[in-house]
Amino acid sequence: MTDKTIMLGMFQAMGLGGAWRLPGNTSTEFLDLDHWITMAMRLDEAGVDFLFFADDYAYPIMNGQVIDVAIKEALLFPKADPVTLLSALAAVTTKLGLVVTSSTTIEKPQALAKRFATLDHLSKGRIGWNVVTGAGQNSSAKLFGEKMIPHDERYALAEDHLQLAMKLWQGSWEDGALKVDKENNVYADPSMVHEIEHDGPYFQAHGLLTVPPSPQRTPVLFQAGTSTKGRDLASRYAEAVFLAAEPDMMAEQIADLRARAVSHGRAPDAIKFLIAGTFITAETEEEALALRERMIGFNTLEGAAAAYAFFTGLDLLSMELDKPLSTVKTEQGRTNVERFAGENGKPAPTVREILEEFRRNGVMGQPFIGTPAQVVDQAKAVIAQTGADGFLVQPGPDGTYDDFIDLLMPVMRERGLIAPPASAGTTLRERIFGAGQKRLPHDHPGAQYLAGAEVLTG
Ligand SMILES: Cc1cc2nc3c(=O)[nH]c(=O)nc-3n(C[C@H](O)[C@H](O)[C@H](O)COP(=O)(O)O)c2cc1C
Repeated sequence: MTDKTIMLGMFQAMGLGGAWRLPGNTSTEFLDLDHWITMAMRLDEAGVDFLFFADDYAYPIMNGQVIDVAIKEALLFPKADPVTLLSALAAVTTKLGLVVTSSTTIEKPQALAKRFATLDHLSKGRIGWNVVTGAGQNSSAKLFGEKMIPHDERYALAEDHLQLAMKLWQGSWEDGALKVDKENNVYADPSMVHEIEHDGPYFQAHGLLTVPPSPQRTPVLFQAGTSTKGRDLASRYAEAVFLAAEPDMMAEQIADLRARAVSHGRAPDAIKFLIAGTFITAETEEEALALRERMIGFNTLEGAAAAYAFFTGLDLLSMELDKPLSTVKTEQGRTNVERFAGENGKPAPTVREILEEFRRNGVMGQPFIGTPAQVVDQAKAVIAQTGADGFLVQPGPDGTYDDFIDLLMPVMRERGLIAPPASAGTTLRERIFGAGQKRLPHDHPGAQYLAGAEVLTG
């Protein structure tokens, strides 16, 4: 068992949660700003480290057609744009980190850099960016009227994107360039503000970020997607990684990512790992198990197949149910194909088993279920087994984190698993890596782009 304290982030999308049909579930209020303000204030007060919003432009399709059950039952649909929420949530919180996904396949780095720099100012340095190439590539490519970019090329594009964004954040303004000297009519020293050069394989830029440097400059870089190429990107650039799989597989992924980070000249603990987890607790184990069954009771195999198609582009219902996946080649997301390929000497699950796993748990892996004491024991065991640094917590049956905060966090605190709530706000990077760590660390590839530190080259 481990005695380290862990981090807690909360998972959201600006849409409906899986348990939206349960009476009392509040996620149908996702277009009401008050819903989000209430949630963020509660998390801030409870001492949760950050609130994360997943996002993409996609929805489940198969053979180019919208899958009706996805629209009917609200599977990975609908979705609004969570970036619009963040300055409102920054205004009503002081400590909570705010992390949001933006896709490197869809966004332009220059526009993304400006948006995140602004949000980092408005939140006093509490912003994180979840860097993804993106789930649901087939429908989002269709929406944008573009050809789907092949899987590995999307990751090459992501690296180029990230390098350009980091140059803008780190390299446009030297520290001290901002003067705001009204008497002498000097806002900024032009000799200390620079156009950056970027001549990459996908993006070219010669220009500067018009936003003065924010507290963190570069937002904390999160990554999700554990395909081979995803790991490659994460090991070079990510500061935190979201994982979702069985514990033995996550243990292997974490060890692999740590070793790769070291091979890129980064510290062994340069990346924090957060396990995406569902926590179902009640006074008795029976009640918790019953609650779990109620939560997933509405989930159908047809819906599970639509969700699997969203992540992978593969149609499980067209395959033989009692055999393993008949194809593992996809240009869509690979994480949930590689996850069921039978690694670590285990036999690959059958299509029927994959469908049932997706019906029950989706992309999230096994839930933690039981009394608060049992759940905290399970959580501690998984942290010890995998070497992870914390959890990314799914909302409870009511769409909130009230049970997690009221029932689990006190037991976690009592047992030393989480720290007492912070008394003052810091930047998100300091919250994760400790006092004084506002900026990218020296061993991060983005640190070299700092203006005034070194001449920039494409
Ligand atoms: C906890 C968690 C959160 C994720 N959030 C997003 C997200 O917000 N948007 C997205 O497109 N993909 C998200 N992903 C990653 C996708 O599932 C997908 O793996 C990735 O974008 C495609 O890359 P791949 O081929 O490496 O799987 C998330 C994954 C996990 C485990």
